Amino acid sequence: MSATHQLRCVDCGVQTSADSISSDFRCPECNGLYEVLYPWSAGVHDSTTDAGGSQLRLPNPGGIRHLWQERRTSTLPIDQSGVWRFRELLPIVRNVEKVVTLCEGNTPLYDLPRCAELAGVDWLFAKHQGMNPTGSFKDTGMTAALSVAVERGFQWVACASTGNTSAAMAAYAARAGLRSIVFIPEGKIAWGKLSQSMDYGALTVQLKTDFDGCVRLLLELVRRFPIYLLNSVNPYRLEGQKTPAMEILEQMEWQVPEHLVVPGGNLANSSALGKGFLELKQLGMIPRVPKISVIQAQGANPLYRWFGDANREMNPVTAETRATAIRIGNPASWKKAARVIEQTGGWCEEATEQEIALAKAQIGAEGIGCEPASAVTLAGLKKLVVQGQVNRGERVVLLLTGHTLKDPQYTIDYHRGELLEPEELAGATADDLARHTELRKAPIVLEANQDVVLRTLEQQMNAQVPAGAGSPA
Ligand code: F0G
Repeated sequence: MSATHQLRCVDCGVQTSADSISSDFRCPECNGLYEVLYPWSAGVHDSTTDAGGSQLRLPNPGGIRHLWQERRTSTLPIDQSGVWRFRELLPIVRNVEKVVTLCEGNTPLYDLPRCAELAGVDWLFAKHQGMNPTGSFKDTGMTAALSVAVERGFQWVACASTGNTSAAMAAYAARAGLRSIVFIPEGKIAWGKLSQSMDYGALTVQLKTDFDGCVRLLLELVRRFPIYLLNSVNPYRLEGQKTPAMEILEQMEWQVPEHLVVPGGNLANSSALGKGFLELKQLGMIPRVPKISVIQAQGANPLYRWFGDANREMNPVTAETRATAIRIGNPASWKKAARVIEQTGGWCEEATEQEIALAKAQIGAEGIGCEPASAVTLAGLKKLVVQGQVNRGERVVLLLTGHTLKDPQYTIDYHRGELLEPEELAGATADDLARHTELRKAPIVLEANQDVVLRTLEQQMNAQVPAGAGSPA
């Protein structure tokens, strides 16, 4: 094992040094993906000495918690970052002073009492990764992998994206003074995300294909040119994306939640969070890990199908969903996610378009807001409770991955009643239909006339007296 880390193929187990991997981050033996391996990773050492007999310098669990906490009051950028604050567990760059950071991480853990009631659990919190600098969880992974690109001397970076990875990559590349190339499926990403990659100066290429087609073309590009690939096949992305595990634990005073529910697209994030929790357990910092469950949109559900298939075969699908962030039919990291579900005892579910829209409106009605892909978590949780996978008394954390302003058109269409087709609503229960009606808040257009405005508002206010509200004292 090198001084800091090695890479291990998750398929065939071959280990290699970080400097000797190919530009597409695939194992030359079996085409598998790599994961970053440390002296404390599971299955690496069963003793605290290395092969030569010298003492391994493992992080000290007691001291480390204190150190991480102390850094919160520091003014150093690397301490203010909710990724690099945990740098003992991601020693992937030689000079941590030079990392590219936008003070990512440090995102809130909100309680969702009304959503908890709707889902049938007593304790429900949302870790809102949409509160990152570019509005999605991708920033935590991008600060890590882009810092590696800088250290290795790359001038160009690139990714294929459904919009959030590209927004994050463009921002971090701009901070570092690197040039970035973005491949996105034309007409299939939300405007907020497209505008970000332009704002941050990326060379933005809209391809007349889907996300999976963008990935194929990008791989050809990085094979031919010295461009650093920043899709989540890059294992360093996952090192940054594992840090919300540490933040959640800190925010819960090191109590381990019973369940974590995560949206699944390309399936890197669920595996990154699993890696985070499993490493903390391996280091003795927590006694157990939460169950990690992955929820997919019904129209982009290859992992859900794999999960329900007796032969456990993975078959890519042609993806279609309005939750465009997770409109992915051939997820690169599915084996990593599958392993995390199995290792943690989690589950896999799917959510229909109607269920996603309802869940998003319900989260929004608690004053939180998220993008559609994040709302699959609440939609999926409701099903996990009904099926008995999650019990009422268990503490559940939903991972909200993106900010509501990423895709305002979705929200506007929903509230105007223009989002869902009648056949999509046909699958809803009577209860759900009533909830849609209650939640929809289409804007009212009025003449700017005092009488009209006052009369209309009086009617509206009388019609919407909150339950239990009395007259003012
Ligand atoms: N939620 C949001 C908001 C996303 O943008 C993504 C992925 C996911 C969930 C799923 O995460 O792929 O790790 O399973 N977005 C990628 C992108 C694909 O290009 O922005 P995953």
